[in-house]
Amino acid sequence: MNQINATSDQMCFELPIFQANLGNSVLDASGFPVDFYFQDIGLKHTSFCQSAICYIDGSKGLLLYRGYPIEELCKHFQFESIMYLLLFGELPTSRTLKSFTKKLIKYRHIPDYCYSLLEHLPESSHPMGILLTLVSALAADSSQSLDDPDEMAIRIVAQMPILVALSQRHARTLKPVHQDSNDDSLGYVPDFLFRLFGQIPTEHTVTAFDQILTLHAEHEQNASTCTLRVSGSTGTNAYAALAAAITALWGPAHGGANEACMQMLEAIKTCDRIPEYIEKAKSKEDPFRLMGFGHRVYRSRDPRADVMKSLAKEVLDSKQDKPLFRLAPSLEKRALEDPYFISHQLYPNVDYYSGIVQRALGIENNAFTTIFALARTTGWMSHWLEMMRDKTPIIRPRQHYIGPRKRSL
Ligand code: CMC
Repeated sequence: MNQINATSDQMCFELPIFQANLGNSVLDASGFPVDFYFQDIGLKHTSFCQSAICYIDGSKGLLLYRGYPIEELCKHFQFESIMYLLLFGELPTSRTLKSFTKKLIKYRHIPDYCYSLLEHLPESSHPMGILLTLVSALAADSSQSLDDPDEMAIRIVAQMPILVALSQRHARTLKPVHQDSNDDSLGYVPDFLFRLFGQIPTEHTVTAFDQILTLHAEHEQNASTCTLRVSGSTGTNAYAALAAAITALWGPAHGGANEACMQMLEAIKTCDRIPEYIEKAKSKEDPFRLMGFGHRVYRSRDPRADVMKSLAKEVLDSKQDKPLFRLAPSLEKRALEDPYFISHQLYPNVDYYSGIVQRALGIENNAFTTIFALARTTGWMSHWLEMMRDKTPIIRPRQHYIGPRKRSL
């Protein structure tokens, strides 16, 4: 352990530095001896936990799940193996994958009240709001909770496809597709697509969704995972922590960006309007931002965006949405040549092409984020399991108070 000096006007401290296995070292402030705080608005420089699940090198555009590069995982493994890897730390053997898959099927059902609850929600409800309502209902039902955290995590990832399919269908005023929960003929992704579309999906669609889920499955301490950890640290039940994470994901600065990006492309409509929107994004007077661009961590290309862009090329080859696809690369090219985007190190993120791909596969704009939630549930539950194993203390930060001094009425 190294020591460094941190000085202020009057004080000098020695703080230990921990070397990370990869990436930045960490200054250990846990034993800080005096009564003042570190200010880090937006937690840009704060490591608030230890984790062995995911590593991002934002300057190199590197994303590793349990040490494996995302591009290789996408190429060689189906989503069930990715789930196992994230939840339990290693890729499964054929024996462990078989027993994991069996459990996913065993837990693949939800209580009947979830279906009746849907009937009370307005048809105009947003799919993310419906998903949140269903997960909250499960949080209220103690019979859904399991004592063994591993089993609990598997139950949640197994139930999530049913909840997402129900949310999307309700928002499209379609009746649920009832699938025999004992029917083990369909794997995780095909079963989800059957519940969503009411027909057995093509192999091509299954492969595309498999990759979408893998790309979105995990991304270390993003806003929703951080929210899950904060709520999970209070000891609340796993469904309640999941509901908190879904809430955080919904916002357009996070998972909602794929929906906002598609709306933006639809508003721009034709390539001749690109310069106007680039100027809007650069203007400090205009709150508009180029959706699907920029990232808190990536200061070079988001590796997920590259895989998603290739997927978009494959998927759109046989589809009608081509005008949008022509617009998206043109806008990307113009932005990447612009001095503002260059100096601010703004590149397309995973959400830039994910909406286009999902649209081509039959998902409505307002449902994109529920697919993100389905994928990210594996990441969230991996962090929840890690917290359970590590016995994480309650997360309770402090603040820089800027309100009035004590005063009398
Ligand atoms: N368009 C135009 N300017 C931007 C953009 C953008 N998309 N993103 C950041 N900037 C500018 C921002 O105006 C600021 O400029 P200046 O320093 O001159 O005032 C500078 O870049 C830094 O911005 P910031 O908001 O401090 O950066 P951040 O790291 O806090 O925010 C972000 C990251 C993702 C919230 C932001 O880039 C953004 O709003 N992007 C659009 C929404 C989006 O695509 N979100 C999906 C993120 S990836 C999926 C996920 O992980 O959830």
